Amino acid sequence: MAKIELDNMILECPVIVGAEKEKAIDISELRAKTGYITLDDSFSNTGSCKSAITYIDGDKGILRYRGYPIEELAAKSSFAETAFLVIYGHLPNKEEYSRFSGLLTDYEILNESFKHHYEGFPNNAPPMAMLSAMINALSCYQPEVNNNDISKFDVSAARLISQVRVLAASAYKMSVGLPTVFPYPEMSYAENFLHMMFSLPNRPYEMDQDIIDALNMFLILHIDHEQNCSTSTVRLVASSGANLYASCAAGVCALWGRLHGGANQAVVEMLNHIKNADYNVKEFIDMVKNKKNGVKLMGFGHRVYKNFDPRSKILQAAAHKLFKKAGQSDELLSIAQELADYALNDEYFIERKLYPNVDFYSGLIMQALGIPLNMFTVLFAIGRMPGWIAHWKELSENPKRRIYRPRQIYVGETLRHYEPMSMRG
Ligand code: ACO
Repeated sequence: MAKIELDNMILECPVIVGAEKEKAIDISELRAKTGYITLDDSFSNTGSCKSAITYIDGDKGILRYRGYPIEELAAKSSFAETAFLVIYGHLPNKEEYSRFSGLLTDYEILNESFKHHYEGFPNNAPPMAMLSAMINALSCYQPEVNNNDISKFDVSAARLISQVRVLAASAYKMSVGLPTVFPYPEMSYAENFLHMMFSLPNRPYEMDQDIIDALNMFLILHIDHEQNCSTSTVRLVASSGANLYASCAAGVCALWGRLHGGANQAVVEMLNHIKNADYNVKEFIDMVKNKKNGVKLMGFGHRVYKNFDPRSKILQAAAHKLFKKAGQSDELLSIAQELADYALNDEYFIERKLYPNVDFYSGLIMQALGIPLNMFTVLFAIGRMPGWIAHWKELSENPKRRIYRPRQIYVGETLRHYEPMSMRG
């Protein structure tokens, strides 16, 4: 028990200890018993739920899905297998995997009228806007999803995981005026996405195993990251009883921002900017440290990791491998490396415990795969979908769930009364 002393009274609050010994004080009765609420701007120190999906130790740089280290899954698993693990809590056996991948195949084709939805967007529409709108639109074709019948969950989840890549690739094809391409049942998830992005009806995309493996790994690394901004959004929306598609569409919107998933695009834009600018890496870092015009070192820093981000280490190694193999100009990678080396030895970044996060190298991987810049965050959303789905399921299956409803401290005007316009100064 923790004791909180307030206004001459003592409130005993239960201490909650997690599976990895992390501790929390349960303050759910604080307001009812004392009239106080807790104030934690931006939720830096607020646990919003108990969850059994992902464990992070930000001080030690540990990330595990359902107990499995991210490094093992990235090296040995496939996106579809890890998606099953994250959603259902265990690695699938043969039969379970075959059913799951069968559902992904069965539900991979979009309703033909999606074509008309796409036609309504301008050519330069941001793909994240289209993706969010299209995911929400999925519920129009499966109205029973609004009943949130958990017995239908397997089909809805598979449909969403399978179709999000089709929606994304179609958005890209439409934006460049090329015909959309259907997925092939015999291809893996990652392979199929590349096929839909880059094949044409008259010219199939030539697959390279290293590229497929890199995309598979990228998607696995992005599957879940506990109560981040977009996942908290999904849970918050779901807590009102919103359906799976509506909740995940909201997750896409939250992910879009440059401080979250949008950072992968922002990093490559920053690297290109430095490449073309008339100042060097040191001068750029000085601008960041001086907080000049709000310039940040994109891809650095994290609310939870105060040591290295394990995903960034895996992606860094993969980026070097891919650039070497493709014989691509590695100018941007060199600038990234120089920035990282400089920042990691600079007092500003050391003091604030700022390290490269998942986005620092992931944009470079996307670039090596030939993914257009405005699709980088879309790729993040495809990877994150099983995580959002797992959180929607966890929340929806909790018999004690209640609608999310944070409190506030009101700092506005106190009571005043309406005056007719003629009397206002
Ligand atoms: N560049 C320069 N300074 C930074 C950076 C950065 N990337 N990140 C944090 N800081 C500074 C802050 O200005 C602050 O300085 P101060 O103490 O002088 O005021 C200090 O470090 C502490 O940072 P916070 O703002 O408290 O960090 P917070 O937890 O609120 O934000 C965030 C985390 C959003 C990730 C931040 O580090 C950031 O903006 N990074 C760049 C964007 C980015 O890479 N986002 C992707 C994150 S990973 C993901 O979402 C997938």
